[in-house]
Amino acid sequence: MMALTGLENNDLKLIIFGGKGGVGKTSCAIATALRLSEKFNTLLISTDPAHSVSDCLEQQIGFKVTKVEGTAKLWAIEVVADEALSGFKTQHQAELKKLLETSTNLDNEDIDDLLTLSIPGIDEVMSFKTIIDFIEEGGYDKYVVDTAPTGHALRLISSPKLLDEWIKMAARMRWKYRYMITSFSGSYQPDEVDTFLLGLKKTVKRIESILKDKARCEFIPVCIAESMAITETGRLLSDLGKSGIIPRQIIVNNVMISEGCDFCRRRKACQLPYLNEISDTFNTLNKVEVPAFPEEIKGLQALHKLKKVLLPENQ
Ligand SMILES: Nc1ncnc2c1ncn2[C@@H]1O[C@H](COP(=O)(O)OP(=O)(O)OP(=O)(O)O)[C@@H](O)[C@H]1O
Ligand SMILES: [Mg+2]
Repeated sequence: MMALTGLENNDLKLIIFGGKGGVGKTSCAIATALRLSEKFNTLLISTDPAHSVSDCLEQQIGFKVTKVEGTAKLWAIEVVADEALSGFKTQHQAELKKLLETSTNLDNEDIDDLLTLSIPGIDEVMSFKTIIDFIEEGGYDKYVVDTAPTGHALRLISSPKLLDEWIKMAARMRWKYRYMITSFSGSYQPDEVDTFLLGLKKTVKRIESILKDKARCEFIPVCIAESMAITETGRLLSDLGKSGIIPRQIIVNNVMISEGCDFCRRRKACQLPYLNEISDTFNTLNKVEVPAFPEEIKGLQALHKLKKVLLPENQ
């Protein structure tokens, strides 16, 4: 049985787990973070609105960096997209207001309405910005991200494109204003809105560059030996590929090992063709099989057990 490889490389900062609902993303992300935290200062980041990291660790985490009890170098945070967004709006209220005032013919009341509206996808942009801000602050060696099921991970990955569209739109909205100022006064001095938009543009560039950088970022899909999970993993890989993200390895969770009873034998026989299909379909990926444990993965003791399967010592 293979193990996850390459995660200890010093250049590798960001490790993202993704896949279909209920296949074991949260369990695998935490177990991996647990192993890495034995050598590295590690921050586990959950972007799943369901906040199952708290449940799995049996410790309340929430939207602030919290030390994971019973570990030496593991911290965790559950990003609340709404709060990240309202924090961003509060922080940049002046620029956002001025952007709208200098771009449109709206009155103040309209502008206030607009500012409280959500832009579709902005939640994910803010979740990702939170992650990137942490990485840039550089407080940790490894950042392990647990995502909500497939669609969410993909939205997270494509969020820089979305933000880029928004910036372009804002820049277009300002073009008239600049033109007006220039024709009145003959010249145009960039103001705080330009600085703000430029800052956002830099954020987009930073997110895109880290996501596409194989040395710094790795996406690990989690799958199980079932038909629908395989189909969904195929789609996930193809969509990731479109964003320039090519995984190196895949976790196949819940694999039946025991042949001790009739149920186990039949379950194992059912999985076999799917395990073969996974090997054939995803033949470029290092495959890591995780056995189905008799007990659920909850609490540190169970997580340590999973950790030893994913990343055994003395590889
Ligand atoms: N190898 C395993 N053996 C036994 N139970 C497992 C195994 N892997 C995961 N589980 C259990 O399966 C359930 C789902 O796991 P987990 O929460 O990690 O999945 P997930 O992909 O994060 O789910 P979601 O899509 O809801 O976020 C949990 O109750 C977990 O304890
Ligand atoms: Mg989960």
